[in-house]
Amino acid sequence: MEASPGASPAAYDIDWDMLQARAVEMLERAYAPYSDFPVGAAGLVDDGRVVVGCNVENASYGVGLCAECGMVSELHATGGGRLVAVFCVGKDGRALMPCGRCRQLLWENGGPDCLLMTPEGVLTMRDVLPQAFGPDDLARKE
Ligand code: THU
Repeated sequence: MEASPGASPAAYDIDWDMLQARAVEMLERAYAPYSDFPVGAAGLVDDGRVVVGCNVENASYGVGLCAECGMVSELHATGGGRLVAVFCVGKDGRALMPCGRCRQLLWENGGPDCLLMTPEGVLTMRDVLPQAFGPDDLARKE
């Protein structure tokens, strides 16, 4: 990976196979006894780090955490930065679309140009969360 922190995601040479492998590794760590639907997520950060997460469910079903939540938590816990590329996988190891709430998390931490592997190939966050609400909207106070 050649680009320096802050560069546009398009400037990075993304190793999608590596990201998928890191996401698949997470499937074994997932705690999904209620849904039996493990999810793994891996994200490339603009400084070259890779952050990962798995879903963590709860007997109080509604408070379960998605894999992307864990990944974003690791992003901040290990120094912050911006997500440039994200790969989420389901049990079969293939690309899984992040849920709506998680797309919002990815938007906040990667922005419109962040790349996402989807069942239809690589798309941007702008593609998968059009007309997003984001930090800029908070500037409109009146
Ligand atoms: N899940 C994720 O971890 N990420 C998503 O983007 C979609 C859904 C989890 C939540 C729950 O533990 C299980 O998948 C079934 O919905």
